[in-house]
Amino acid sequence: MESTHQKKATFGKRERLPCIAPLLTTVEETPQMVSARVRGHFPKWLSGYLLRIGPGKFEFGKDKYNHWFDGMALLHQFRIEKGTVTYRSKFLQSDTYKANSVHDRIVISEFGTLALPDPCKNVFERFMSKFELPAITDNTNVNYVRYKGDYYVSTETNFMNKVDIKTLEKTEKVDWSKFIAVNGATAHPHYDPDGTAYNMGNSYGPHGSCYNIIRVPPENVDLGETIHGAQVICSIASAERMKPSYYHSFGMTRNYIIFIEQPLKMNLWKIVTSRIRGKPFSSGISWEPQYNTRFHVVDKHTGQLLPGMYYSKPFVTFHQINAFEDQGCVVIDLCCQDDGRSLEVYQLQNLRKAGEGLDQVYNSVGRSFPRRFVLPLHVSLNDPEGENLSPLSYSSASAVKQADGKIWCSYENLHPEDLEEEGGVEFPQINYGQFSGKKYRFFYGCGFRHLVGDSLIKVDVVNKTLKIWREDGFYPSEPVFVPAPGTSEEDGGVILSAVITPDQYCLSVLE
Ligand SMILES: [Fe+2]
Repeated sequence: MESTHQKKATFGKRERLPCIAPLLTTVEETPQMVSARVRGHFPKWLSGYLLRIGPGKFEFGKDKYNHWFDGMALLHQFRIEKGTVTYRSKFLQSDTYKANSVHDRIVISEFGTLALPDPCKNVFERFMSKFELPAITDNTNVNYVRYKGDYYVSTETNFMNKVDIKTLEKTEKVDWSKFIAVNGATAHPHYDPDGTAYNMGNSYGPHGSCYNIIRVPPENVDLGETIHGAQVICSIASAERMKPSYYHSFGMTRNYIIFIEQPLKMNLWKIVTSRIRGKPFSSGISWEPQYNTRFHVVDKHTGQLLPGMYYSKPFVTFHQINAFEDQGCVVIDLCCQDDGRSLEVYQLQNLRKAGEGLDQVYNSVGRSFPRRFVLPLHVSLNDPEGENLSPLSYSSASAVKQADGKIWCSYENLHPEDLEEEGGVEFPQINYGQFSGKKYRFFYGCGFRHLVGDSLIKVDVVNKTLKIWREDGFYPSEPVFVPAPGTSEEDGGVILSAVITPDQYCLSVLE
């Protein structure tokens, strides 16, 4: 027993990690298109834009951001055509970016950075400003999303910015709360084949906080329309009124939305008083593993919440891999961590460390592994207690009814042991257009033998095998799968990843 325990406690520990501080410094934008030098070959059929976004500026004047997620959004565009590649990048001209630039200091708070009162105000004015409602950031640096065929860049506040993907110019700022009663939405919506988009966002009212499922129709009736016609189709009350869970994404099958209420909690009282207490938003988020993780399943056509109460031991997930229905069950695959404290570790001062300090930071973070959960949809009072209700012979995931009527879910690992050596996997992507919501075999992600992804991994979830690409000193972004035309093979295509090194920037295409 002891050796097993020791192995568990030390697995994945690494030493002498290379310093990645140069990857976490402010960069210049490249607004004029530049031609890339192409090495190797691009398939002739590959044509279009690869759009990426991330933080690219970490200070204004003497003010510095604290957290990796706080940096100003830098939009990247790779245009690929007939084997040639051009690149350009522009800082998103958000109101936040413009206000910070004009004042040459941080005037709007971000996730891990509290904007300090204007030093030009007198002491009384500075004190009173702590009680003003804070401006919400529109620094939408997390993801590109699509509604009604238009492209937006999104974070998790109530704001999104519509962008022209050809010029990378912002064309409109959109406020979710002007359309529906939500205070924000995730940066990871799901899409039906007809373009209908689903997302989730919280609302905070006198009756407590709710998790809302949002549907945005695909039709664009008027020119210049944004998210008109958006609807809340279901509201799920938070288990704790003042402490809703934080979530970054959710699952979707053909007929159901799966929401995971995890014990990573947002303490609303702490968040509301953060300005007075002189703390950033992030200080209101806490990992509370005394609670279990709960799955909620909602019929996405009727908006009805299913009665099944599905629980598992505490874990945290940021990205779902895929979900599908089979034999009366929802099967949901997620990248999971047993320890939910990783958000606080991703402070810039931690990421910029070197030597033993950097090793210690890396070894303190939980690794992420792909896991499958099976949720039987039609559970009745007559179902036997203590027996596994999952009929799926191909999965060892179980769902056992308890005396109190709850369904206790235990997961199946979707990976071979080798993945532990790769530091686990995150940023999962699939052949979304053809396999989202369907039974599938492959996903692609980044391996984490460092605090940022340092390999690209293809996982076969049926045979539980890995295919790995890695070069020392190269750090790839989330792999994007592009299917080859005319093939129905699930993995017939390429993955695209923007790979950075301390002194180069390149785009990789892997077949
Ligand atoms: Fe994400």
